[in-house]
Amino acid sequence: MVKINTCIFISGQGSNLKNLINRSRDYNFPINIKLIISNNKNAYGIIYAKRNSIPFFIINSKIRNIDLQILHILKKHKISFICLAGYMKIISKNLILKFRYPIINIHPSLLPKFKGLNTFSRILKNNEKKTGCTVHIVNDKLDDGNIIIKKIFFISSNDNEKTLKQKTQKLEYQAFPEAIIKFFRKN
Ligand code: GRF
Repeated sequence: MVKINTCIFISGQGSNLKNLINRSRDYNFPINIKLIISNNKNAYGIIYAKRNSIPFFIINSKIRNIDLQILHILKKHKISFICLAGYMKIISKNLILKFRYPIINIHPSLLPKFKGLNTFSRILKNNEKKTGCTVHIVNDKLDDGNIIIKKIFFISSNDNEKTLKQKTQKLEYQAFPEAIIKFFRKN
């Protein structure tokens, strides 16, 4: 099977990255992770790049024309698919257009509800009965774009921000790989 050269963008913990690296070892999984990009030099997730000998690149946000810098490194590593896994910066319209290949993102809510940051506190404040995660195609609007997969769970009265995050992330580890498989089955 020919696997798609993929870059994962992270900003922090990298638990989704870790999960995708593990899944990508399966012979039948559609992607090979060839590059990791972080906008945060202290992101814990960089450890998974090092441990697995995957090239990684830290974005220097002080440099002008960051998009050109990113496009250059993506091209150098022959990347044709991007997964945003906890990447806390917005991907510019320019980058989306110039990259030309698909970009997908995971978000910790049932989109289109609760786009943006601080999702868990807003979900609790709003007394939602259920929540979950969504994997979607990235377009030039925040947490918008066609939905590939959603996974849902019911919120219990004992839940707080910490438990919601734990439950959501547990679902994310299923949703992200499933979304990738589903996406490449169709495209
Ligand atoms: C995930 O919950 C994802 O939905 C959100 O950021 C979190 C990243 O977690 N966009 P990790 O870095 O993969 O552990």
